[in-house]
Amino acid sequence: MKHAGSVVEAERGSARAPLDRPVRILHLEDNLNDAELVRDMLDNDGLHCEIVRIETRAEFADALDRQRFDLVISDFTLPSYDGRAALLLAREKSPDTPVLFFSGTLGEESAIQALKAGATDCVLKQRPARFVSAVRRALHEAKEQATHKRTEKAMRKDQERFKSIYESSKDAIAYSTIDGLLLDVNDSFLKLTRYTREEILMKTYQNLTPMEYRKLEGDIIQNVVRTGEPAEYEKEYIRKDGSLVAVSLTVFVVKDREGQPDGLAQIVKDITKRKRLEEQFRQAQKMEAVGQLTSGIAHDFNNLLTVINGYSEMTLQALKADDPLRSNIEQVKEAGARAAALTRQLLAFSRKQVLEPKVLDLNAVVTNIDKMLTRTIGEDIDLVAALTPGLGRVKADPGQIEQVIMNLATNARDAMPDGGMLTIETANVELDAAYAQMHMAITPGRYVMLAVSDTGCGIDAETQRRIFEPFFTTKEQGKGTGLGLAMVYGIVKQSGGSIWVYSEPGHGTTFKIYLPRVEAPTEAVEPDTARARPPNGTETILLVEDAAGVRSLARAALQVYGYSVLEAANGNETIALSEQYQGVIHLLVTDVVMPGMNGRALAERLTTRLPQMKVLYVSGYTDDTIVRHGMLDAGMAFLQKPFTPLALARKVREVLDAPPKQD
Ligand SMILES: Nc1ncnc2c1ncn2[C@@H]1O[C@H](COP(=O)(O)OP(=O)(O)OP(=O)(O)O)[C@@H](O)[C@H]1O
Ligand SMILES: [Mg+2]
Repeated sequence: MKHAGSVVEAERGSARAPLDRPVRILHLEDNLNDAELVRDMLDNDGLHCEIVRIETRAEFADALDRQRFDLVISDFTLPSYDGRAALLLAREKSPDTPVLFFSGTLGEESAIQALKAGATDCVLKQRPARFVSAVRRALHEAKEQATHKRTEKAMRKDQERFKSIYESSKDAIAYSTIDGLLLDVNDSFLKLTRYTREEILMKTYQNLTPMEYRKLEGDIIQNVVRTGEPAEYEKEYIRKDGSLVAVSLTVFVVKDREGQPDGLAQIVKDITKRKRLEEQFRQAQKMEAVGQLTSGIAHDFNNLLTVINGYSEMTLQALKADDPLRSNIEQVKEAGARAAALTRQLLAFSRKQVLEPKVLDLNAVVTNIDKMLTRTIGEDIDLVAALTPGLGRVKADPGQIEQVIMNLATNARDAMPDGGMLTIETANVELDAAYAQMHMAITPGRYVMLAVSDTGCGIDAETQRRIFEPFFTTKEQGKGTGLGLAMVYGIVKQSGGSIWVYSEPGHGTTFKIYLPRVEAPTEAVEPDTARARPPNGTETILLVEDAAGVRSLARAALQVYGYSVLEAANGNETIALSEQYQGVIHLLVTDVVMPGMNGRALAERLTTRLPQMKVLYVSGYTDDTIVRHGMLDAGMAFLQKPFTPLALARKVREVLDAPPKQD
């Protein structure tokens, strides 16, 4: 028995069923026989379905509200309802469900109208043979449509996802025609180029590219379009304000449905930071290489200059006041002294200078040389000292730091021929990780800053790259040697600090030096008392030097001042000599860098046997044998080559007179 409104299970799943569950059919039909007929036909065809039969509008509406049907089959003329209204209601309540008319009273005219109104098909009861295939086709089409809708929805979702990746990408992304007209860019692209969206969509990417890149980029892009292979390269973009930004980009072709090139996409990364670090790294490497070279030269020159300067000084002492050759030798001595000064600057640059670091208050250093500074810069330049009270301490060689300030001040003066202002500023600063990321070789931490600024002519970018190189100068011949900043650089680096220049042509220059802050009380800088004493003596000195010229000069010089001298050319010779010698050896004067045993190892061996013997190291050059990074330990006596006979004698006297070491 089938009742109106009851669910009829038409059994028997069939392999031909379009769905893997029973097909749900809503059947609007008042005639039970016809209902039965429909069920039987579908049944016989093997369509596994559940049929809900109803007769009235209310039932129809209610059924549509309660459940989703795969198909509505409807009579056209019903006692209490009509097919056309049913069709409209079904389209409204369940637009995806196909409606099929199965009726005995459907004229051609009404059928056409029904189809126009959205019915899937109309089948006359008189021709039942068509019915089942019409049902199957309706179900099939509905299923296709549903699949289509699902894909569309999925595609829309994909699109939204890509859009959101595109929008939130940190990399700038732009889409253009093949010719380069920008059609779409993301926010990062706007941020990078500083244009608004309206402004940029009027432009081509060529408009944003400096001239020198256009040809090369044109070739690259042609190739990308031709081969379909993406390209990666680096270039610059011109921002709205005219400034340049270094970028690396990937460019690829976007194709249309037919696989034809439709546009170009580019993904752009700002590489300013990387470029800056690369540049700093290259600079540092260059300075390192030049440093190696200069320190080698300085080492050899120091030995030669010791001999030249030494013998000229000794010869001058021996000559009578009115000797006609006197002025010749004076000229030699003067030139030698200039050469020695140059060599010292080179050594400073190559960080091979021996420093005598003390814990310092940079404010005190600046205040100390205030007078000298004022004299150097002249009357047309105002000196402003902005010294931060409570400044942290640094460990550096005070004499060398004075040199640094004097050199910077001299350069500032030269940059302000018509007067201006020189500012020396000190401050406590904390360099954080962000700063360290932008600056090579900076460890985050606490530093003391010393800045020297002028209101002079400024330095263009190209020149800035080279100013720390030795012998780089823009000054006319004879005015500058180009060693000032090289020396400054070497001293700062050797003291564990860093130096940066900030300048724009016409807007003055600032040099900033950062020295690591130390937590220790300031050490007094001892006054140089040695100068007052006569440098003569009668003690016995053991002199070790591998360079024969230097050795004989030093021997001669010491003998002139009254000392007895034993000499040797290397470590083993010295040990043998000291074992044979019966008397007291008061002082060992030894070169540091020698083939075989170095000066320090030699001194250590000898002093274990001769604990009263004092030691003076002499070198034109330092490596890590006596001093770590060129920093002299307290209590260690050292004389820098080239030295004059007088300087040697003074130093020897000073070491001999110093109270004995307490170990
Ligand atoms: N404050 C400054 N303003 C403008 N240019 C500067 C400044 N400081 C340095 N320069 C430039 O850097 C170059 C190199 O400076 P550096 O001190 O090394 O050598 P110099 O002053 O030319 O010669 P030297 O210092 O050996 O007498 C200078 O020739 C100048 O072009
Ligand atoms: Mg200079």
